[in-house]
Amino acid sequence: MTTPTTTSTSTATGSKRLGDPPPADLLDPAERMSVDELRVLQLERLQWTLRHAYQNVPHYRRTFDAAGVHPDDCRELADIAKFPTTSKVDFRENYPFGLFAVPQEQVRRIHASSGTTGRPTVVGYTERDTDTWAGLIARSIRAAGGRPGHKIHNAYGYGLFTGGLGAHYGIERLGATAIPVSGGMTPRQVQLIQDFRPDLIMITPSYMLTVLDEFARQGIDPTSTSLQVGIFGAEPWTEQMRIEIEERMDMHAVDIYGLSEVMGPGISQECVETKDGLHIWEDHFLPEVVDPLDGTPLPDGEEGELLFTSLTKEALPSIRYRTRDLTRLLPGTARPSMRRMKKITGRSDDMIILRGVNLFPTQIEEIVLRTAGLAPHFQLELTTRGRMDALAVLVEARMETPAERRQAAAAELIKAIKDSIGVSVTCEVIDPDSLERSVGKLRRLYDRREK
Ligand code: DLL
Repeated sequence: MTTPTTTSTSTATGSKRLGDPPPADLLDPAERMSVDELRVLQLERLQWTLRHAYQNVPHYRRTFDAAGVHPDDCRELADIAKFPTTSKVDFRENYPFGLFAVPQEQVRRIHASSGTTGRPTVVGYTERDTDTWAGLIARSIRAAGGRPGHKIHNAYGYGLFTGGLGAHYGIERLGATAIPVSGGMTPRQVQLIQDFRPDLIMITPSYMLTVLDEFARQGIDPTSTSLQVGIFGAEPWTEQMRIEIEERMDMHAVDIYGLSEVMGPGISQECVETKDGLHIWEDHFLPEVVDPLDGTPLPDGEEGELLFTSLTKEALPSIRYRTRDLTRLLPGTARPSMRRMKKITGRSDDMIILRGVNLFPTQIEEIVLRTAGLAPHFQLELTTRGRMDALAVLVEARMETPAERRQAAAAELIKAIKDSIGVSVTCEVIDPDSLERSVGKLRRLYDRREK
């Protein structure tokens, strides 16, 4: 058994074999570049991307012209800040294919993410784009500990969502075996994990919890499975959740990030041997962090909204796409030349402003999971009380929690939230298994305030 060097408080070492860094000869050439070499490559690719977008997408020509910038104005990487940003609204206004930069016959695949307001966000890929994407997912899985020959249970949803097919082609590219289960039919997920004996699983963290409940229902010990690594993403999750999953499954839990507008999963990935944030695959994506309110660029290390410019995408170049995800950029570790992003705190749209205090569901998740007797299943409900907003935490007791413990657990949670975040909430501890379970991305917040 090899115990990985880990900076997390993770305890998952048990009987696991995986967790070593890949040998240098398995890395892509870009993963071994020096920072200087990487910056040269990025600039060359950035200049190409800006010209490609300007020449082929009327939207970009218009917005560059309106801002008084031209692709020739990009002489160094920092010049990116002169260019206008792109947002979800631009996708909506150019629905469905208006942001595509190649003729339709060169588009090999389309994906879409469900928009919160009606029209989905539509994205497209050329043959080279799908090839790049598969390569980056393969690189991500390798960073997570996966190797050619492994069996990988893929529970990300197949279809228009980028998770399922995105992961799928990367698994094949790595030379591993794809088990394309998709999301849902939870009893079958457990059966296939038992029967096919996969080495890795790719799944949203909230759906992993649902599958874990099913293990319990079937009376199977989840630490007894063949799984050694879980690659979790598509929604925010916390260090406390990592500990929860690693302990309950006796496997490594690492983070994968991405979004449809920029490519899909595989924009950044946490390395299993360090578990210290996600390395951004900077040979294909240029990250920036800006002040979410006014868009001012922030130096590395400061928390703000993450922006990406794609560096090689043909069908859909993304220029300074505002992800709404909040994080900070850190120097590379396991891949020294590629910067890391901290685990995502949340999306700026998920931020709850409660009586003047800003808070994120992830902060509540951390506290729920640290409170003895409480399960990781909870919902947040915002209501109006009098003229004030009120936040209620509805959280399940763990199976083994005695009934008389519930009251005390609720009181501890309320106090911990008050102490660490500074807001008063109410809390109700309810029966195990009473909240709706996720089969993909989880919804934590229900806003029932009077409008
Ligand atoms: O969720 C792509 C993906 C699939 C990533 C599978 C990882 C694994 P969208 O549906 O476009 O794409 O949603 C993108 O999900 O802006 C974040 O808010 C959130 N998100 C994705 N990965 C993470 C993560 C896919 N690791 C949106 N941590 C992003 C926190 C994440 N949030």
